[in-house]
Amino acid sequence: MNYAITGITGKVGGAVARNLLEAGQAVRAVMRDASKASRWRGLGCPVAIADMADAAALTQAFAGTDGVFVLLPANFDPSPGFPEVRTILAALEAALLAARPSRVVCLSTVGAQATTENLLTTLGIMERTLGELPLPITFLRPAWFMENCSWDVTPARESGVIPSFLQPLDKPFPMVSTIDVASVAARLLQETWSGRRVVELEGPSRVSPNDIAAAFSRRLGKPVRVNAVPREAWRELFVAQGMKNPAPRSRMLDGFNEGWIDFEAGVTGSLKGTTTLTSVVNALLA
Ligand SMILES: NC(=O)c1ccc[n+]([C@@H]2O[C@H](COP(=O)([O-])OP(=O)(O)OC[C@H]3O[C@@H](n4cnc5c(N)ncnc54)[C@H](OP(=O)(O)O)[C@@H]3O)[C@@H](O)[C@H]2O)c1
Repeated sequence: MNYAITGITGKVGGAVARNLLEAGQAVRAVMRDASKASRWRGLGCPVAIADMADAAALTQAFAGTDGVFVLLPANFDPSPGFPEVRTILAALEAALLAARPSRVVCLSTVGAQATTENLLTTLGIMERTLGELPLPITFLRPAWFMENCSWDVTPARESGVIPSFLQPLDKPFPMVSTIDVASVAARLLQETWSGRRVVELEGPSRVSPNDIAAAFSRRLGKPVRVNAVPREAWRELFVAQGMKNPAPRSRMLDGFNEGWIDFEAGVTGSLKGTTTLTSVVNALLA
């Protein structure tokens, strides 16, 4: 079988491709930046150059494939009304309709179904738009990535204090490693199904901000603690980081903290990965 993988130069897409190659499948590497092609050519993958907003290039990239993995670029600072993702989705919709792959797996998120507007609304828009396509399509909704802890490496090492927007600090949140996300996505791509389905995925156990500090502390061999960043300071902090429209990001964090961003009862599949927080943190610190 032959699979086109978008986002292949990033964490999840790259690992999806490696899983497929290990399973003996053919992979077409879809990327916007030709300077990153040689690594994938070296693994025997034909390369298609396509920006996610370029319908014609995406059509060529997807043509003649058995399956397509769709990964929307993350955008922490979307404009009001989410025009950036709507442009990408218009291109993807046109390309998938023209190329007609046998099946599509899209990376979505926990909470894509939430009705309160927040950063994850972009993936809700994706599910509603691409879910209308007359193709077998799966939306994989993973929890918060454990690899987001990469932001914590420098503060843990340098000051022993990790700032946390997830609060309260002892609340266990659903999290999952991108290792598990990629292996499940690769498996789903190789399945046969009809219509639209949703698969939700979290790690082997839920993780609190205090658990993250403890994992860093164990590995670094020194005390590490988390510090809750006060809600009233977020806006100013995000603007100082260069964000123009910080409300969606703040509302996403509210959604996790208040519990209205969560898994949806009654979806097709609910899976658990096996990769632990300890192994992810140890790898980040290696
Ligand atoms: N972080 C979380 O907790 C979490 C949880 C659930 C779901 N998600 C979803 O996971 C996705 C991010 O996955 P990731 O961590 O693997 O991302 P990543 O490592 O940042 O990789 C992003 C990929 O998108 C490509 N890309 C960016 N803009 C593009 C464009 N205009 N055209 C074509 N390709 C473009 C990048 O290519 P370049 O190498 O050229 O930049 C890269 O291959 C997002 O959709 C996010 O919503 C994240």
